[in-house]
Amino acid sequence: MAAPEGRPTGGEGRVAGKVAIVTGGGQVPGPGVGTGKATALLLARHGASVVLVDNEPDRAEVTRKEIEQLGGAAVVVAGDVTVAADAERFTQAALDSFGRLDVLVNNVGVSRPGSILDTTEDSWDDLLRINLKSVYQVSRFAIPAMAATGGGSVVNISSIGALRAIGFAAYSAAKGGMISLSQEMAAAHGPQGIRVNVVVPGSVQTPRTQGAAEKLGQDLGEIQKTAAAVLPLGTVTHGTGWDIAYAALFFASDESSWISGQVLAADGGASVTLPAVALASLRQRQAG
Ligand SMILES: NC(=O)c1ccc[n+]([C@@H]2O[C@H](COP(=O)([O-])OP(=O)(O)OC[C@H]3O[C@@H](n4cnc5c(N)ncnc54)[C@H](O)[C@@H]3O)[C@@H](O)[C@H]2O)c1
Repeated sequence: MAAPEGRPTGGEGRVAGKVAIVTGGGQVPGPGVGTGKATALLLARHGASVVLVDNEPDRAEVTRKEIEQLGGAAVVVAGDVTVAADAERFTQAALDSFGRLDVLVNNVGVSRPGSILDTTEDSWDDLLRINLKSVYQVSRFAIPAMAATGGGSVVNISSIGALRAIGFAAYSAAKGGMISLSQEMAAAHGPQGIRVNVVVPGSVQTPRTQGAAEKLGQDLGEIQKTAAAVLPLGTVTHGTGWDIAYAALFFASDESSWISGQVLAADGGASVTLPAVALASLRQRQAG
């Protein structure tokens, strides 16, 4: 069936010819796939050239090799998303390597549980810097480059903590701030052809969360089983990096060309049932 006029044809070329930066394009070693890596692989599979940003470049090198095996193009840029000089280099690398920039996926994020009383000032500053300031830092260099060739798409990876209390005060504050910032960016830069949208992942099994849970002595599988039991989509569709990556791909592609400033939860339905999730987990703890 022919695609409607002016629409992408789907298939494997949903972002064909575009150039994308994915921050956190590597992943910590471990089972499963990280959101950044899944997004980079999916963008490449659909025809984009990818700049893989990571402060641990060896991790991004693994993603680059996999993209190359798929027949795609990618480069690795080592750097910290919170540092201005590094952020400037990410955009420069896209221009030097591929001649333009169309997509920025702000994926880097770090979480730590605790109420504000459990959160030291240093920890608060760290979480706000890595999760929120990074979006400001990387976007302010990327947006002018995208605008120079008619526009582009910024995709910010937030968290369900932005929409519901999950017991991660500083992290959730930063991720909520990301939604407000995205709306400001969408309004300010829309006239230059820049779209800005947010993906809100629910609890997703990635190597990073597995490692974090282990450090805290938590059984992530058990926590996710409890949560999934009361999710509308149940245990059938357990969230993975791919679920988030497909939402990011949609916002990156021209399929969403009339959508900006929006928030899409990829969470198995958790954002409509989280109070029940919290209750179920509380009940389980009380029973234990
Ligand atoms: N996994 C979940 O359950 C979950 C839930 C909600 C939201 N999220 C969000 O999804 C995003 C991706 O999470 P993930 O677990 O898939 O991680 P990921 O595997 O996509 O990213 C981790 C990568 O980021 C790199 N990185 C970390 N700090 C960096 C920095 N300052 N500069 C450059 N690179 C840096 C790491 O080296 C690692 O390779 C995050 O923003 C996270 O907050 C995840």
